[in-house]
Amino acid sequence: MLLVRQGTQFDKELLPELMALVSSEMEKSVLAKKTAIEMTNDLEDGKIFLAFWKEELIGLVSYHDWNQCIEIMTIFVKDDFRRRGIGAYLAKTVYHFLKKTSKKRIVVMPNNSSKSLFLNLGLSPIDKALMNPKMRCACHGCAEEDQFPVCHCHYLEKVDGQNIVIEVTDQLNLDHRFYNQYLYLYKNMWTDAPWFETWTLQSTIEELRTYDDKQALFVLAHNDDRLVGFCTGYFVEKKEMREIAKHEQFNPVLDGYIGFYVAEVGVVRGLREQGIGLKLLQSMMAKARQRGVRTPLIISRTKAPESEYLFATCGLSKTKIADGGDPQRFYWVSR
Ligand SMILES: CC(C)(COP(=O)(O)OP(=O)(O)OC[C@H]1O[C@@H](n2cnc3c(N)ncnc32)[C@H](O)[C@@H]1OP(=O)(O)O)[C@@H](O)C(=O)NCCC(=O)NCCS
Repeated sequence: MLLVRQGTQFDKELLPELMALVSSEMEKSVLAKKTAIEMTNDLEDGKIFLAFWKEELIGLVSYHDWNQCIEIMTIFVKDDFRRRGIGAYLAKTVYHFLKKTSKKRIVVMPNNSSKSLFLNLGLSPIDKALMNPKMRCACHGCAEEDQFPVCHCHYLEKVDGQNIVIEVTDQLNLDHRFYNQYLYLYKNMWTDAPWFETWTLQSTIEELRTYDDKQALFVLAHNDDRLVGFCTGYFVEKKEMREIAKHEQFNPVLDGYIGFYVAEVGVVRGLREQGIGLKLLQSMMAKARQRGVRTPLIISRTKAPESEYLFATCGLSKTKIADGGDPQRFYWVSR
């Protein structure tokens, strides 16, 4: 039977067992290095949660208070007990404890094997450039310390999804306060199914530069200085729409009208399904109409079921026109 409980000063006798459990992962830089003294202090301060199977110590998770934020760290489950939901349970236990006992921002630097545990708790991937610099202390001794921020750890934060601000701008250049965050968010937005796209910083910058020659609109969703979503689009003519769609016969309805093409809409994982995408797209459509686009000529394309749902909610209709370059992507137009 599984028992997870907060460590106490009386658990100091478990220290050799605890160190034996995590030492090889610390050696390999899988876990941030901690000395026996630090572990003892964490136990005394109740900053470690221990997992037992019957009497056996099989896992742990700890946290560290960096003053401005609290980091969940050192999550570990013994080999034979993995992939049974114990890691997820440890993550959930410490996360809810912290939510109950502190108002500070909860953050984590997971690796690939623990990332999903925290995404499932609603934490969002955030640009490492926004990390509290004090947290870098935990990188000391890591084999990839010199490669930061291009290293194996991710950086996630719990971002408040309630007080989101929507802002519309014509230009998103170096001077814009969200320029860097936009590049980071965009670059990482399309790595999952169904896109599986790989973007580098350079290709993202180049993509953004293509908007310089267009009459573009950027809608940004942010909270607490964190950019959490974007929608981009630009005014188009029939010829340009044919080039975008790689489709010779594309949408003759554009003849004589000003059209507007919604190129991208994305919300950071952790804040999806909370209406942010809807606010982004509705704001974009309202702004495009304000600038002279007449119904029915707002156009977009997608193959992701969640975007189809979003488009339908915003009053777009699915056409039978598939993209010439990707036959799974269908075009949608405003009614
Ligand atoms: C990361 C770690 C703590 C996860 O612990 P775990 O107990 O295996 O975690 P869970 O079982 O809760 O979840 C892990 C995966 O198993 C899957 N899983 C959970 N229950 C399962 C089951 N009954 N059958 C099959 N898979 C299951 C989960 O869905 C999850 O898969 P996903 O990553 O594809 O979403 C563990 O792998 C570990 O100790 N690794 C070494 C230390 C480490 O890397 N720590 C992170 C430092 S940042």
